[in-house]
Amino acid sequence: MTQEGYLLRGPRFGIRRIQERDIDLIGGWIFDPELSPEYIARADPEEAEQMDVRALLTPSDEDPGPFYFLALVADDAVGEQVAFVNFLSKNGPPHYLWEGEILVGRRPDGAKGVGTEVFALAIEVLFSETPAQKLWGPIATDNTASLRMAERLGFKWEGFLRQHIPMASGVKDARLGSVLKSEWELPFKLDREEHV
Ligand SMILES: CC(C)(COP(=O)(O)OP(=O)(O)OC[C@H]1O[C@@H](n2cnc3c(N)ncnc32)[C@H](O)[C@@H]1OP(=O)(O)O)[C@@H](O)C(=O)NCCC(=O)NCCS
Repeated sequence: MTQEGYLLRGPRFGIRRIQERDIDLIGGWIFDPELSPEYIARADPEEAEQMDVRALLTPSDEDPGPFYFLALVADDAVGEQVAFVNFLSKNGPPHYLWEGEILVGRRPDGAKGVGTEVFALAIEVLFSETPAQKLWGPIATDNTASLRMAERLGFKWEGFLRQHIPMASGVKDARLGSVLKSEWELPFKLDREEHV
């Protein structure tokens, strides 16, 4: 890594809080139908235009109210962004329950396992930097990469959500997955001295 400010570094990527300089790039990823078909289908064009990605800069070390964001960006070895993770707690203090989303925007040299490594690092940060005890999220039943990533990371399946995720190709059924802090284990070793 060539830059300071990483919360955690894994074998290939480093994870840090979102900054002003990331906003345009991440906004581009979120509104790119190739990268983010789910989001595009959900937002009508007017809503998409109004959506302010800048809201993700909401400071997470203060409690701004019922919505509590932890927006993270992962960089590769030369400090270029590869993925974006957004955690959101909707239930107010004590912020026990969080929902997570990840988007891989770039794969250095077509690398495999980008999502799995980045989401693992992000979950480690979530459980160490916030009061989160549980992370959950719905995953469309045809989103094989996301389902496999969740399984690799030790998510347990809690239920089946009928007609839950609207996408351009139709409303998708979803599986509800979750991981508890008490059962969470990073799937690879970290050099603890890399914590900054
Ligand atoms: C979901 C996502 C984060 C996964 O990250 P990724 O870098 O693509 O996935 P990884 O390389 O870490 O692979 C995870 C698993 O999915 C499999 N996989 C990856 N891409 C796949 C594809 N296109 N089709 C089927 N399986 C796939 C991998 O083989 C791996 O499975 P394995 O452990 O059995 O080998 C990424 O694809 C993404 O950003 N998708 C768009 C946004 C999205 O769907 N976010 C999640 C919303 S719930």
